[in-house]
Amino acid sequence: MTIPAQPYPLTGRSFKSLEKEYPLNDPLQKAIIDQILQSHCDTPGGLMVILNEIQSRIGFVSQPIQEYVARVLNTPVSAIHGVITFYSFFTTEPRGERILKFCMGTACYVGGTPQLVDKATQLLGVSPGQTTPDGKITVEVCRCVGACSQAPVVVVDEQMYGRIRPSKMPALIRDVLKSCEDASGG
Ligand code: FES
Repeated sequence: MTIPAQPYPLTGRSFKSLEKEYPLNDPLQKAIIDQILQSHCDTPGGLMVILNEIQSRIGFVSQPIQEYVARVLNTPVSAIHGVITFYSFFTTEPRGERILKFCMGTACYVGGTPQLVDKATQLLGVSPGQTTPDGKITVEVCRCVGACSQAPVVVVDEQMYGRIRPSKMPALIRDVLKSCEDASGG
């Protein structure tokens, strides 16, 4: 596995400058990425395995990581970028400690999800796809989660909450923040 010295196609920046970006500048995380690449670089169809493992173990596949993987595998970075943007499982930024998902399936949408998202945005100061500056909560929207009779549905990590009204959002967010504190022993 060799790293060529030329600039990367998307950014035009050198490997050295990309290396400065987290987690490529973190020796432990970079070692994880290199180990994943070493294990699967010769596997047919290994790209999905590699990207899945990076997502699971690092938590995201940022643009510098995509370019690094592309260069090592000698694959067009556009192909990797296409996979990352097609599957919602992948994220390009670190997620927060808790994921607050708002179901945007038809029943939930009609049942009031847009108002819930507005309320959460107002309370947390971040929009869907973003994470609070303290790294605690990521707000996302998702497709139907199969609990339409409970619409509108909010999912916190794996836990579903049904028939949520905007007036219930402050308490729900307080509980989520408290669970972060409890988990960190604070
Ligand atoms: S539309 Fe939200 S659970 Fe089905």
